[in-house]
Amino acid sequence: MSTSPGDPWWRDAVVYQVYPRSFQDSDGDGEGDLRGIAGRLEHIKALGADALWLSPVYPSPMADGGYDVAGYEDIDPRFGSLDDAATLIAAAHERDLRVLMDVVPCHTSIEHPWFREHPERYVWSDRDGPQNNWIASFGGAAWSRDPDGRGWYLHSFYPEQPDLDWRREDVRDAMARALRFWLQRGVDGFRLDALDRLLKDRQLRDNPPATGPPPLPEHGEVGLLEQRYSRNAPDIGDALAALRDAAGEETWLVGEVYLPAAELAPYLQHVDVAFAFELLLASWTPQAIRTAIERALDPAGAAGRVAWVLSNHDFPRLPNRVGPANVRAAALLALTLPGPVFVYQGDEIGMADGPGREPPRDRADRDRHRHPMRWDDDAPHGGFSSGEPWLPAIDVDGGAVATQERDPDSVLALYRDLIALRRTLGAGLEFLDDVDDGIIAYRRGSGHIVALNLADKPRRAPAAGPILRATHGALAPARAPAPAVLGPGEGFVAVAPEVPRG
Ligand code: NOJ
Repeated sequence: MSTSPGDPWWRDAVVYQVYPRSFQDSDGDGEGDLRGIAGRLEHIKALGADALWLSPVYPSPMADGGYDVAGYEDIDPRFGSLDDAATLIAAAHERDLRVLMDVVPCHTSIEHPWFREHPERYVWSDRDGPQNNWIASFGGAAWSRDPDGRGWYLHSFYPEQPDLDWRREDVRDAMARALRFWLQRGVDGFRLDALDRLLKDRQLRDNPPATGPPPLPEHGEVGLLEQRYSRNAPDIGDALAALRDAAGEETWLVGEVYLPAAELAPYLQHVDVAFAFELLLASWTPQAIRTAIERALDPAGAAGRVAWVLSNHDFPRLPNRVGPANVRAAALLALTLPGPVFVYQGDEIGMADGPGREPPRDRADRDRHRHPMRWDDDAPHGGFSSGEPWLPAIDVDGGAVATQERDPDSVLALYRDLIALRRTLGAGLEFLDDVDDGIIAYRRGSGHIVALNLADKPRRAPAAGPILRATHGALAPARAPAPAVLGPGEGFVAVAPEVPRG
């Protein structure tokens, strides 16, 4: 894309998110594992991705799908071993794919040995009960009584995830050690979980009642209070500086910061990019999408230091969120924005949410977004596992990877073509103003136009030169003209029209 020699490798990277438990099982136990991932690297490579991000694979009792870490420097046996991790990292590097690990610094699992051996590393109430009115992210009080009777501890998420006290040097040192452990094993970057939760108010003051909707949507009752003191403390930079120090300048740090782009600046002093959640959460209208992109690019805020993402393991999948008719347009949008972009496993085949299971594995109802990857419609459980999958295998409308690979009109073909094309689009993004209602269109560099129709009726397309890739159909023949009209959910990347010389 706009990459120039001095740019870091990730400047316009496509990062493929692997949710390890659901990607590929190699041993028939019904859960995905590292060997399974290693066996599927060709798929990630063929997509054109530059890197993969592994959601947590550390030892974990799985109260929060692995985001409850019981040991930062090891691999859970369900996923394999440290040797398997080394083999996977080497195999990825052989294919020129970088590897990002997920680091969960805000909290550990309640079963992490630190919770027993180093209770001082956690945040405790100074009384026999909750110290304030904070609500945990998935609901309920953010304080729970310690099962060993040592008092009440703070947890920003599930009670099984006690919060570490990031104002302590020993906590920073311990996490720094974990980062170095993985860097020594060759990883190229980290996705840093829940960074806005790392530091809270020093005095642990009560949150005030909310006076309006939260800046980004919250789970149920969480929005009843303004999250003034329970996150995003002013001295967050100290904690982030410690993470950056441990990682070194060369390591790519991607922050998961659940805040609007306007509030990302303190985080971006230390991490390279933060996810642009406003776009992920925007309603599917030109105005909402344009506003979200403009906020992320605003020089006074995140200034484009964002990682674009339309989907991950926490949110409804694309067909469920934007509607099945808009899945291709969503791919066109995400893959033509300037800067790194994350693609969640299954998006590249248009996978939708599944039914989850009863009883649920995840109490916050996110099983539906985590069903096994669909590889082969003719193989048991879609090719995911020879055993009974931990979540049922589900069909995908356009067929499994193997089916879509044979079809040049498939969603998979669209992803591959767009990923190849995005590298040629040129720098910057400028919205076109004079477009029909329902159309969103922008210029990339000086030579390309991207347009998509978000309305449910056909709309006039902006003027454009020859088409390079449309959302529907196969790759266009060279120099085919861009269409004058776009149907609902249709879009294209085209050469910019020639400016008439006057
Ligand atoms: C964000 C992760 O993506 C999510 O799955 C997890 O529940 C929370 N952080 C807490 O770690």
